[in-house]
Amino acid sequence: MSVSPAHHAHAHHLPTYQPPADFVGRAAVSGMAAYQALCQQAAEDYEGFWAGQARRLLSWHKPFSQVLDASHAPFYQWFADGTLNASFNCLDRQVERGLGDKTALIFEADDGVVTRITYAQLLAKTCQIANAMKSLGISKGDRVVIYIAMSIDGIAAMQACARIGAVHSVVFGGFSAQSLRDRIHDTGAKLVITADHQLRGGKQLPLKDIVDEALALGGCEAVTQVLVVRRSGAPVPMTDGRDRWLAELADSQPTVCEPEWVGAEHPLFLLYTSGSTGKPKGVQHSTGGYLLHAVLTSQWVFDLKDDDVFWCTADIGWITGHTYIAYGPLALGATQLVFEGVPTYPDAGRFWQNIARHRVSVFYTAPTAIRSLIKAAETDPAVDPSHYDLSSLRLLGSVGEPINPAAWQWYYDHIGGGRCPIVDTFWQTETGGHLITPLPGATPMVPGSCTLPLPGIEAAVVDEQGHEVPWGQDGLLVVKKPWPAMIRTIWGDPERFKKSYYPDSLGGRLYLAGDGAVRDPQTGYFTITGRTDDVLNVSGHRMGTMEIESALVSCSELVAEAAVVARPDDTTGEAICAFVVLKHARPAGDEAKRIAKILRDHVAREIGPIAKPKDIRFGDNLPKTRSGKIMRRLLRAIARGEAVTQDISTLENPAILDQLAENH
Ligand code: WTA
Repeated sequence: MSVSPAHHAHAHHLPTYQPPADFVGRAAVSGMAAYQALCQQAAEDYEGFWAGQARRLLSWHKPFSQVLDASHAPFYQWFADGTLNASFNCLDRQVERGLGDKTALIFEADDGVVTRITYAQLLAKTCQIANAMKSLGISKGDRVVIYIAMSIDGIAAMQACARIGAVHSVVFGGFSAQSLRDRIHDTGAKLVITADHQLRGGKQLPLKDIVDEALALGGCEAVTQVLVVRRSGAPVPMTDGRDRWLAELADSQPTVCEPEWVGAEHPLFLLYTSGSTGKPKGVQHSTGGYLLHAVLTSQWVFDLKDDDVFWCTADIGWITGHTYIAYGPLALGATQLVFEGVPTYPDAGRFWQNIARHRVSVFYTAPTAIRSLIKAAETDPAVDPSHYDLSSLRLLGSVGEPINPAAWQWYYDHIGGGRCPIVDTFWQTETGGHLITPLPGATPMVPGSCTLPLPGIEAAVVDEQGHEVPWGQDGLLVVKKPWPAMIRTIWGDPERFKKSYYPDSLGGRLYLAGDGAVRDPQTGYFTITGRTDDVLNVSGHRMGTMEIESALVSCSELVAEAAVVARPDDTTGEAICAFVVLKHARPAGDEAKRIAKILRDHVAREIGPIAKPKDIRFGDNLPKTRSGKIMRRLLRAIARGEAVTQDISTLENPAILDQLAENH
């Protein structure tokens, strides 16, 4: 854990944008005074504040009497004696409110075919899948792995798990068989829900085949059933007694299924994410606290109203797709666009075309997508956003990585037409929902700054001993008080939870985000400066350097040693740069290219294509200290193409630096 030097623009050099006056008037949180009043309320009566929100926004089967239980800190509990059901809150409640005929999801397929489903229909479908799972013996507490692309079925399957108290773990469809196997193994899942294929960018890609491969790798013996959604219709092998078509089982089930009322602390899902060491960790979220934050931020930050069409472009395989597709907007009764495809198919105007076609009013995407679409519009003026009717937009959001001020400005001017506030939402898989973000009808915006914490979130910037640093100084981002949607534990590894998020070095009572931050000296606005641990962020996807290193080294016939670092990249934010020592001589020319390709393909098989290193450099060795530690800071400088100016007096083999630097 170290504080990296600041490579960011200090917020106060940039212009401030006020939220438009007509927006402020009708926003959920209207004006800075309203924001400050909420902060004040939380400061004066922290538990009362959260209890009030939980009563206002969630339907409880049995009301809670306890709010925060800190007796097993840092294993905090919220609303623990209350019971509820997440799917009831997302679906039944909307039908009861008279929204049964309202469109819940507008599904736009890769090929442009549109399917709509109302709240009443989504509830019926969810109940049928829930009953189908029950008929297979799945019940409360069982884990279900969902390996599927963006689809109504995927969302309904998540809701169906919640309905019966089963714990879903969605695995992103881009992960390899090996990664899928590791997650199935770690969760001990009994059931896998998948599809025959996924359709993306006009291509048909396997899902079911990968599930078969994952299960064949061993360690997944708890899986006795696989339910398969028919998407492509192309043939896939089905194993007798284990595999069934979901529709064949679900379509004949009753459309009613009594929700399983669970305690607020009952795990709603596990979602695997990368840390600085070891295998990805299963982040465990609760039902009550998590759902509260999902619905609260959908209201405060996305300001969702009855007539909005919300589009979050994330995949349900990531936390953003959980909180801001599968749960939050549904719990508010919003209409959402769900998109199966990719931003560049059939051309790079697809996002803008989708917004125009479906009259999207609130749009939430990642800086990496924005940057790649800026480039696309520069090279092909036909896909410039000015050719599309984007007048339906009223609010824009950004998530996943820091947004650079130039991309912010383009988003504001060219997509928002200068009328739409931008919410730059900082949060993490572990935080469950937004932590630091503008409120669109209140907070003056500064490009590149996620501005201020939500009411009830006590964020701070501290030094390595846990002492708050003055505004203007870089430090570690922490949260001082537990909040309802926070991670409960790492599945099966409570010790790792404590070490990762509540380290003793900070006193054991501060949540350590793993990001660096600095506050503006005048306004106190937060700017995130990037991870302070060995976690990379490539196109908004989180990966551990150690994971990629292990994948490289597992190519044991070729690789002796590997070290992975990030370097900045104009489009993807960061790019993966690997330094590799082979078991045989250092290759050159075409031979180096050939081996680099073998290694990239190997990483794609071990983790998934998203983890393929962009640069691979070969050396006779790696820069090491006399005690044998790899000096990553030197590798980072080389990866950036910078001259090594750091102290190299402890370096065992200084000549290696020149070799790695010249080897491009
Ligand atoms: C980064 C995604 C700056 C950060 C929701 C964090 C951001 C990691 C922002 C979590 C933002 C996310 N500004 N950085 N608005 N949003 N990050 O778990 O480094 O996939 O720790 O959750 O993404 O990634 P995760």
